[in-house]
Amino acid sequence: MKETLTTKFIELFGDADNTEFFFSPGRVNLIGEHTDYNGGHVFPCALTLGTYALARKRSDKKMHFYSLNLTNFGVVEASLDDLTNKKEYGWANYPLGIVWAFKERGVELETGFDMVIWGNIPNGSGLSSSASLEVLTGLVLTNLFDIHTFNMIDLALIGQQSENNFNGCNCGIMDQFAVAMGKKDHAIFLDTSDLSFEYAPVVLDDAKIIITNSKVKHSLVDSKYNDRRQECADALAALQTKLDIKTLGDLDLDTFEANVELIDDPVKVRRARHAVAENQRTIEAVKALKEGNISHFGELMNQSHISLRDDYEVSCDEIDILVDLAWAIPGVVGSRITGGGFGGCTVSIVKTDAVDTFIETVGAKYLEKVGHEAEFYTVDIGNGACKLD
Ligand code: GLA
Repeated sequence: MKETLTTKFIELFGDADNTEFFFSPGRVNLIGEHTDYNGGHVFPCALTLGTYALARKRSDKKMHFYSLNLTNFGVVEASLDDLTNKKEYGWANYPLGIVWAFKERGVELETGFDMVIWGNIPNGSGLSSSASLEVLTGLVLTNLFDIHTFNMIDLALIGQQSENNFNGCNCGIMDQFAVAMGKKDHAIFLDTSDLSFEYAPVVLDDAKIIITNSKVKHSLVDSKYNDRRQECADALAALQTKLDIKTLGDLDLDTFEANVELIDDPVKVRRARHAVAENQRTIEAVKALKEGNISHFGELMNQSHISLRDDYEVSCDEIDILVDLAWAIPGVVGSRITGGGFGGCTVSIVKTDAVDTFIETVGAKYLEKVGHEAEFYTVDIGNGACKLD
């Protein structure tokens, strides 16, 4: 990969002297969906799929961004004197947002830089190609400019800040945290209320994690995501009129149900019920995994899907078809939608000897029902973002 990036870098910028090389993964969340902005727990892991960058400091105030995936944008040029989101920058608003967020935190770049990227995370698939690019840019900047102020968790927070305030999606911290802090063969059990976390080995013995990409992304994803977030905030405010809680993650399901009449809107009740129940499921799922009880982990994944489909309403027909097809196959331990929703991917745990049947059957029936092919990836859990040689 370095060779391809280097060739392009030379073609665009004359030579590749003093360039540095970086990688940042995508992520898949095993369980704990839409809990991260509700003070709950999540359980994501970093993928070996990700985004690579070759970058170098400049001596003027220009920044140049080029993506080998989105060549139609050509070289996007921006200036340190104008750190604003512009439609024509397209994908480059993500790296630019990081430069902006550094400045917001008091770290202003004196010169610009050139950056060529390539990635193999399918775009818009819910595997966090944008968080990958954000954390990647943070790492590029701290290395190129010798900035020691930020650690990897700061880079995750900076990624979230720029996504929230520069790119307009009010996301939680899960994606950037998983991308920055991932660890090979482990998932991250993260408590989003205080960012305390623990690495849990993902030992599945005779099973594999399979991601299935529906290859659909429904429109208005960001605004629907922001709506869900607001509905949860409203439900929390209603509960706080009586309960001494900071987030929905502070509640167990019994206390929630005992106080549900405080929330006057049935839609908000369902949204909050999901947030509370999903947090409890995540805690239980990690315990099950530690005890080697994979089948219980799988059951909780299935419950998570039902809750996301019916109470949180972030699934869609194509994803429900994938999950229903998966559930019908012997050897599937659990299957659910993963990520923000409204399309994207499912994550399934499948017994190793059933993987071929799973891919063939789900693949054929999905094509028949939906009219286009799904894509399957066997998950290798990788490390977080890093500088490469
Ligand atoms: C998106 C967001 C995350 C998280 C998930 C849902 O991926 O970026 O912060 O809220 O959706 O779990």
